Amino acid sequence: MADTSTMVETTITLTINGQACTGQKGQTILEVAEANGINIPTLCRHPWLTNHGACRMCVVQVENERRLVTSCAAPAVDGQVVTTHNEHLSKLRQMSLELLFAERNHICPFCPATGNCELQGQAYREGITHTRYDYIFPVLQPDTSAPYFVQDHNRCIVCGRCVRACNEIVGVGTLNFGHRGSNELVIADLGVPLGESSCINCGTCVDVCPTGALFEKRQPYFTRQPEMERKLAICPDDDLGCAMAVLTKSGLVARVEGAEEAPVNGPLLSWRSRYQLLEEPYQRVLSPLVRNAAGVLEPASWDEALDKVADGLSVGLQAALFDGAMAPVAGLCSGRLPSETLEAFHQFVTADCRSMMVDTLRGDERRTQRAARSLHEGYRECDLEAIREADMVLVVGFDPMETHPVLGAWLAGLQHHQQVPIVSINARQAEVAKQANLALKQRRGSAQAVILGMLCQLLDMAQLTRRTDRETQVRWRSHPPDRVAVEAGVPAEDIIRAAELYAQAKRPVILYGPRLTGIGNPTVIGLLWEMAYFCGNTTADGAVRVRGFHSEANAAGAEQIGFRGGADLETAQAIYLLAGDDPFEPLPQLREELEAAPSVVLQASHLGPLTEYADVVLPSLTWSERGGSWVNVAGLVQSFAPVTSPPAGVLSDEQVLARVRARLAERQVATPMEAVDE
Ligand code: SF4
Ligand code: SF4
Ligand code: FES
Repeated sequence: MADTSTMVETTITLTINGQACTGQKGQTILEVAEANGINIPTLCRHPWLTNHGACRMCVVQVENERRLVTSCAAPAVDGQVVTTHNEHLSKLRQMSLELLFAERNHICPFCPATGNCELQGQAYREGITHTRYDYIFPVLQPDTSAPYFVQDHNRCIVCGRCVRACNEIVGVGTLNFGHRGSNELVIADLGVPLGESSCINCGTCVDVCPTGALFEKRQPYFTRQPEMERKLAICPDDDLGCAMAVLTKSGLVARVEGAEEAPVNGPLLSWRSRYQLLEEPYQRVLSPLVRNAAGVLEPASWDEALDKVADGLSVGLQAALFDGAMAPVAGLCSGRLPSETLEAFHQFVTADCRSMMVDTLRGDERRTQRAARSLHEGYRECDLEAIREADMVLVVGFDPMETHPVLGAWLAGLQHHQQVPIVSINARQAEVAKQANLALKQRRGSAQAVILGMLCQLLDMAQLTRRTDRETQVRWRSHPPDRVAVEAGVPAEDIIRAAELYAQAKRPVILYGPRLTGIGNPTVIGLLWEMAYFCGNTTADGAVRVRGFHSEANAAGAEQIGFRGGADLETAQAIYLLAGDDPFEPLPQLREELEAAPSVVLQASHLGPLTEYADVVLPSLTWSERGGSWVNVAGLVQSFAPVTSPPAGVLSDEQVLARVRARLAERQVATPMEAVDE
């Protein structure tokens, strides 16, 4: 039988408006009322945030209390008798609302939030037809300096939601209050324009603003929220695994918002997912394109395009049929795509094209990590929780503010709220270096020397808690900080200071990312694992407090499926690129290889940097049209349904691959695993 004693102890009963209401100890009066279906008006309260008690809309009368109580902040007490609505309370709420209207320039018909504004909504509900107070009509200049949203003090009710969101959810603490009384304003940093402030453009403040005081530049006219459909989707821009709420109207994406239920990021999003994903800098590919004799891509029928694809692939495939060897066909696929599409592509290349040259567009990042794992067996990297609880962060060759902005916000939050020191080791100009407590900008290619310098210093400081062999010690000792300083071009005292900060911390975490893995030096990764391991910085389950990140949202999924080709594109007779909507920019070497390949097929949703190399372009889906599963950097699998439908005639990637496979089978150059079924 279930033990109900704890439940009984924590259950409380209140009488609200004559109705017996049960709740739990620790809840506020407002929470108990809401849980029992009783509505109390609110304005400054937001479910994502702590309570502020600023607007007094939620005031209630509690029997035997001499003063009115703000129900959003007052704890519910067993036996309380509460009144939430009567004439007196209604008059007070009306007065509060009228004062809010009179203090600023709320001209509702000209406000971007009209119809979707909580202030306006409350005014209607309280039956306000006009204000009894003179409008002050203050002269307040909107701040348009931020790239994606506007702050208009004219519509601000100083509820503080944005200030709390910036502090509590984001952690950067850009927003604050300035001035006093009715002149009180929400300011950025010490009163600078938002565009010049520490704001990271995450837009969380815009999400929580109840009025039109913060609105997106892209969407000055808000579509009314109730008319929108809301679905969750993955942010395809990095492998942290951030989920976001996508609001659609008439089948089109209207806006992206934070989602409290997102398991990794909660309501926090980056400017990339919230704003950049909605931009469409290139033209959509709606039907096949084939390069003509004059070298120009022109619209073609599916039949013509599939023939051209089969022509290109057949050269390599026929050679392989004759030899019984692997075909010189290479397949590169965006690692942003869901596992189901990656699997279909992997099978297409390995089974239908009989080639093992299959990888993701940024497969070099995973290759370097894989090489490190084979050189240094037995290390396992920590989960994301270890980052959230870190008391020191060492960021090596990685700029999370740029490539993984939500992770960057976590670091900013750790630094802002818990004074967690951040040390950056980066040869490039990096945003994280600007925020770091200590930034080492070494010469390119000398990150390894700097890490060895730190290890030498840690050894000298007797900071190792695990025994190292003599050979390892000799290797580390051969890199004293003063010698590394000359080689790497960073002051020896900075290397020593970095080692000291690392040694002083109890739960330091080391983060590295695409830049470090992309340059292909597995030794550096191995040294980071050794640093954590030999200094005893492991989690309870034995993982080293080190975590590497990738640019591709489903890099871990691709690795599980077996994208390990290390495609040697120089020998490829044909290259098949499944890019989807990946804004991938090829590096010079890949450009050369694409130029040299006799045949290049591109499956992409938009024209873009890869188009110029393609002989045939086939349509593909965008992020909002895809459904499937993604595996994040820590192994979390998340599945999402498509948010929008593709335009008429645009097929799924699997359907396009099936058409190509069928055409190859017709030519009898491929032996499909199964009968083709779109
Ligand atoms: S966009 Fe984000 S960081 Fe900038 S002020 Fe708003 S909540 Fe703060
Ligand atoms: S800008 Fe919006 S969220 Fe911030 S205090 Fe003003 S009304 Fe409230
Ligand atoms: S909602 Fe309670 S004081 Fe504003």
